[in-house]
Amino acid sequence: MSELNMDQKQQKHFVLVHGVSIGAWCWYKLKPQLESVGHKVTPLDLAACGINTNKIEDVHTFSDYSKPLLEFLASLDPNEKVVLVGHSFGGVSVALAMEKFPEKIAVGIFLTAFIPDTQHNPSYVLQQYVERYPLTGWLDSEFSFSGNKMLLLPGTKFLSTKFFQLCSTEDLELVKILRRTGSLFVENLSEAENFSKERYESVPRVYIVSNNDLAIPLEFQQWMIQNAGINEVKVINGGADHMVMLSKPQELCLSLLEIAKKYH
Ligand SMILES: *[C@@H]1O[C@H](CO)[C@@H](O)[C@H](O)[C@H]1NC(C)=O
Ligand SMILES: *[C@@H]1O[C@H](CO)[C@@H](O)[C@H](O)[C@H]1NC(C)=O
Repeated sequence: MSELNMDQKQQKHFVLVHGVSIGAWCWYKLKPQLESVGHKVTPLDLAACGINTNKIEDVHTFSDYSKPLLEFLASLDPNEKVVLVGHSFGGVSVALAMEKFPEKIAVGIFLTAFIPDTQHNPSYVLQQYVERYPLTGWLDSEFSFSGNKMLLLPGTKFLSTKFFQLCSTEDLELVKILRRTGSLFVENLSEAENFSKERYESVPRVYIVSNNDLAIPLEFQQWMIQNAGINEVKVINGGADHMVMLSKPQELCLSLLEIAKKYH
């Protein structure tokens, strides 16, 4: 009980940001675990994701895509600081949030995520990814264009062999039902200004590696960690695929609690 009655100072607020084509629903195992030890948890749907009612064709800029997160941070109490967690493509929205609201974020946690640097423009890590891992590796996924955006819908074969390969069949069923067409907004991000040392890099950043991720392979995670100059790295060992929050929720929970404790 003492844990549940933790005083306000110890209570952390975790804000969770999903990856492309997924939604807030992917955190359904982690949220009650963090709450059971007394923390506050807000999983968000970005525009045209999860149950957000926008259509991806109508979301023209990366800023608009990230708007639910930016608006949420803007609405916080002026003295509140959150623990911001971005998974996969959600890392880029987390970086944008750190650039816009560095004072509201105690630590930015990148969970097997795309993590931008300040030497290149914001699309750089995405462009490197697409160069090294051609989209043909996305098997039965569907690609199309809408205005200046490339759209993608992950195929069920791709999801079962590269994204959710260590998840339960039930979780795989969930994504087959709930997946939505998304975009990495590479074109729009390539026109954006670099993230800055003064704002984005002023917030502590921690990277959580997933060893058995086949969607963002280990070597690419390691390259991004070096490229972005991240010093603090945690590892979720064997048994976690790309969807760490579904395949290893307990290990992830412990890792997040450790990080949150250090940065308050
Ligand atoms: C911003 O990114 C561009 C393009 O990647 C790069 O050429 C430039 O040097 C960067 N600017 C700074 C201030 O690092
Ligand atoms: C691309 O992004 C910039 C901001 O970085 C925005 O001002 C612009 O309207 C966007 N353009 C398109 C066509 O999406």
